[in-house]
Amino acid sequence: MDKFIVLGEKKLKGIISVSGSKNAGLPIMAASLLADGHYILKNVPDIIDIRTMAKLLRILGAKVEFENHELKINTENCSYYEAPYDLVKTMRASIYVLGPLLARFGKAKVSFPGGCALGARPINLHLQGLQKLGANIEIEHGYIYATAKKLNGTEVIFEKKSVGATTNILMASVLVDGITILRNVACEPEINSLANFLNKMGAKIEGIGTDCLTISGVKNLHPADVTLIPDRIETGTLLLAAAITKGNINVKNCCPMDLGIVLEKLKEIGFSIETENDSIKISGKAKNPIEISTNPYPAFPTDLQAPFAALLSTVKGISIIDENIFSDRFMYISELQRLGADIKLDKNRIVIHGGTKLTGAPLMASDIRAAAALVIAALASEGKTEISRVYHLDRGYERLESKLAQLGADIERIED
Ligand code: UD1
Repeated sequence: MDKFIVLGEKKLKGIISVSGSKNAGLPIMAASLLADGHYILKNVPDIIDIRTMAKLLRILGAKVEFENHELKINTENCSYYEAPYDLVKTMRASIYVLGPLLARFGKAKVSFPGGCALGARPINLHLQGLQKLGANIEIEHGYIYATAKKLNGTEVIFEKKSVGATTNILMASVLVDGITILRNVACEPEINSLANFLNKMGAKIEGIGTDCLTISGVKNLHPADVTLIPDRIETGTLLLAAAITKGNINVKNCCPMDLGIVLEKLKEIGFSIETENDSIKISGKAKNPIEISTNPYPAFPTDLQAPFAALLSTVKGISIIDENIFSDRFMYISELQRLGADIKLDKNRIVIHGGTKLTGAPLMASDIRAAAALVIAALASEGKTEISRVYHLDRGYERLESKLAQLGADIERIED
């Protein structure tokens, strides 16, 4: 298992490009199961989760080639409909094939995803939505068996906003007979990008960008090509890496509009943020502690909660973060404490007494964003930090260490 060695306290400077979005790419790959033919996806990040989804599509009968951030998918010979445990256990987003397989073949067998490092992650909303469309769902031997002779348009009101459930039910709805209305859907930019892609395939989805989607079912879809939107979480991570080193960087090929509240919070801390159409410059120093509350988009993203905690550990004063999406997304705290951060956990809230001196130590990553937080903290820590289990980071970031090194960080991957 690879490790990172970081020698901290180097100011980041320069220009860096953001990769395409993981969370936009995964559902779009699954959507290719909805129509036979050839697809080309561009700006695809070369990360483990994308490769896992490619593996899953191959298991389902697709031909997939991945080179130079271009993914070619041929779904002409897809006839298999089972997502096995071995893949689903490594990536929960494998559940995204459930909706498309059911819509296309009238049946799907997908391993039931287990728990994960962020706490309980139920899929009840996915299953209830499919049942509402007319699917029969059975759970046996750890697998979800979904079948339907025919899916029918209906109204689904989601009890809470869920990115995954919205994604699955939206994909299941595009081929049904009649009109489906989905209420209280997640409005993340990645959902909009999926909905736009489905429309490009011939679907009829209205209300994109709002919390109510109306889908007029069509008989057939056709393949389409797409360039993935920039990864807003990687954008935020790079900005935070610069911020914690009091650096000055220009993040290119990003979408500032998708980072509204994140940029507001950075300004509130005291950083100077300048945006253009597709770039963000950050400079300046931290002055103020802040309060953050994670919630569905457009509120503060849970995926940047841990990276912000790393930054706020270095900002004098008391900062507070409330995590309202996942029940157990604070596993990284004990690692930040090993660097000297003063963070106290109280249920779903952390209180950070910022400004303590951080000094390098051996650390272990527990999930993708926790890993990013440890890297960010290491950049500001005196001396050497060794971060193990960076495979978590590699699931969602394409060679983050190379990008940081390009900006002047002293970071090295030790391959095992
Ligand atoms: C997606 C993102 C993840 C991000 C999260 C929240 C992908 C591949 N992953 O995860 O990076 O952190 O959105 O922005 O895009 N819930 C239920 N029942 C369900 C489904 C969800 O109760 O059937 C709950 C979850 O436990 C959680 C909340 O709803 O408390 C939101 O989860 P959800 O938006 O579904 O997250 P994911 O789609 O798993």
